[in-house]
Amino acid sequence: MFETLAAPKEDAIIALMQAYAADPRPDKIDLGVGVYRDERGHTPVMAAVKAAEAQILQAQDSKSYLSLAGDAAFLNAMESLLLGGAVPSARVAAVGAPGGTAAVRQICELIRKARPEAVIWVSAQTWPNHLPLITAAGLQTRPYRYLAPEGGLDQAAMFADLEHVRAGDVVLLHGCCHNPTGVDLVAQDWAEIGALLSRRGAVPFIDMAYQGFGEGLDADAGGLRHLAARLPEVLVAASCSKNFGLYRERVGIAMAIVDATQRSNLAAVLAGLNRQNFAFPPDHGARVVSTILGDVALRHQWESELAEMRNRVQTNRRALAEALRDETGSDRFAGVGAEQGMFSLLPLSPEEVQRLRVEHGVYLLDDGRANMAGLSVRNSTACARAIASVTR
Ligand code: LMR
Repeated sequence: MFETLAAPKEDAIIALMQAYAADPRPDKIDLGVGVYRDERGHTPVMAAVKAAEAQILQAQDSKSYLSLAGDAAFLNAMESLLLGGAVPSARVAAVGAPGGTAAVRQICELIRKARPEAVIWVSAQTWPNHLPLITAAGLQTRPYRYLAPEGGLDQAAMFADLEHVRAGDVVLLHGCCHNPTGVDLVAQDWAEIGALLSRRGAVPFIDMAYQGFGEGLDADAGGLRHLAARLPEVLVAASCSKNFGLYRERVGIAMAIVDATQRSNLAAVLAGLNRQNFAFPPDHGARVVSTILGDVALRHQWESELAEMRNRVQTNRRALAEALRDETGSDRFAGVGAEQGMFSLLPLSPEEVQRLRVEHGVYLLDDGRANMAGLSVRNSTACARAIASVTR
């Protein structure tokens, strides 16, 4: 029965992870997959996570099933982390999901169930897994322009494209730390998007995978909170992989902000989608998150560790931008210093990216996406030198 199956097209991020792992060069540099790394290139377990895990280990006396939506303490804590009270809880239906990826998938399934003909508008540059996830859920996509050819947000083009959004369509927006460009919307853009979607009767879908890696926990959720407070329906998929460093534990949340009269029905539909796909969401990582967010001292510790990670990534950005200016003698890479979050899209051709990999052991995605967390004081000059040599 399997003769007709073709292996899927390789996922660019996963393939790069494997190629990096197989490279024996000791001075190789990993700017590929979006995980945080410390100065030594290690992805540590956060101290607040370790402390929460110790508490859980002590106190937990059962591993029996919870509800299909997951643990209520996790859902409530995440609601307040994401929404900060911008909307009443009576409007929020949410379920846990195995990571931000599954949260995106569950929201797509929800859209498909409610409105199969909806078009999902996706920024022209986006996370490589967005389109496969959306199309696997049976939905159609259309791109809207995002990045200007010279770098920065192409606001005029983005709004011109979004003028074609129809009532009932869905617009996918990166909550913060746009992946792959690092170019974020500012308050004015969010306000204009809110007005446009409201006028056209379309629904925003916020993918929040890096809250806390841009400007800070509250500032990074500003756009989401603005839309949630002003629009009747908002969809959210959020991940705790990066800001809690819980990558392999798979901690995510899928949320629909709706009219209070529809909340309990929506919560039941979301729980039904969980049942259909994986039944109960994983609990351990979600419990770590609710333990941290529910304890003043642990939360404080977590926030300061997160601030340290954010600052390290920003320091790396500035160091790379400066080194690139010095090594190339041009402002071609100036955007890197000003962008937000883990990623920037370096203006490099696929051939230049290939040469960086083969000749210098510097790994980034073919489109030029580079994870700033993979840099260190030690290697940013070497990295800039390698980039300068392939672009000369
Ligand atoms: C990334 O963009 O590198 C991360 O979000 C990891 C992933 O799942 O692709």
